[in-house]
Amino acid sequence: AEADNQLIIDAGQKQFGATTCGSCGMIYSADSLEDNLQHTQFHQRFLDSIKFVGWKKERVVAEFWDGKIILVLPDDPKYAVKKAEDVRRLADNELGFQQLSLSCPSQAKTYLFVNSDRMVVGCLIAEHIRQGFRVLEQKELTKDMTKEDFMEHHRAWCCSTTPEKAICGVSRIWVFSLARRKGIATRMLDTVRNSFIYGSHLTKEEIAFSDPTPDGKLFATKYCET
Ligand code: ACO
Ligand code: ZN
Repeated sequence: AEADNQLIIDAGQKQFGATTCGSCGMIYSADSLEDNLQHTQFHQRFLDSIKFVGWKKERVVAEFWDGKIILVLPDDPKYAVKKAEDVRRLADNELGFQQLSLSCPSQAKTYLFVNSDRMVVGCLIAEHIRQGFRVLEQKELTKDMTKEDFMEHHRAWCCSTTPEKAICGVSRIWVFSLARRKGIATRMLDTVRNSFIYGSHLTKEEIAFSDPTPDGKLFATKYCET
């Protein structure tokens, strides 16, 4: 009986093994009916959202061997604004953003990284800001911390408490899960610094990230020190 039970447990574990879809990047259990259904629904919608057919007028602000960066402005043709919105919605979904609006949509600049397979694999939304809070390195947690220390630590986790002059606020930065760690976020940010204000180059200090996620913080810390 012991051996029979073991077999059943093994079969059960195998069933719940996670699979990553090689096209949409969704992680799901291929043997679960519900997961399969969810994946099917997500898969096509996702691929449609990131599909880039090419536009008559593209504001190409950077070109690379593996893709290009297109800037979309609020007054651009409807199809361009719609694509930017579709991709932002995907990013928001993944980031768990509740509110769908930007602080000032009429001012937002959207940078889209289009790869050589004609897919939008990166999205960055930048807005003009007057001040920002610098992303700080996480301090070590210690055992003899008071509650106040802990709260301070938690606050410091994402940003400093003193506002600093910044010019460009990054309210969203997202890279398709299967295209990460290829320098796409880095290249989008470099491009923002060169193109956000016509004819001028922004320093790293003039860029601020709003509410970074753990991924965003790791990236921002690395980006700002290099
Ligand atoms: N863990 C550790 N280090 C990281 C990570 C990570 N997850 N991501 C980036 N870095 C560091 C690395 O040092 C990396 O260099 P390396 O790959 O040579 O080691 C360096 O940052 C540059 O990374 P990129 O390749 O340029 O970054 P990528 O294109 O992978 O995009 C991003 C990073 C945007 C954070 C991506 O992981 C993502 O989309 N995550 C999910 C969405 C998210 O959390 N976005 C940030 C929200 S915060 C905001 O929007 C203001
Ligand atoms: Zn899929």
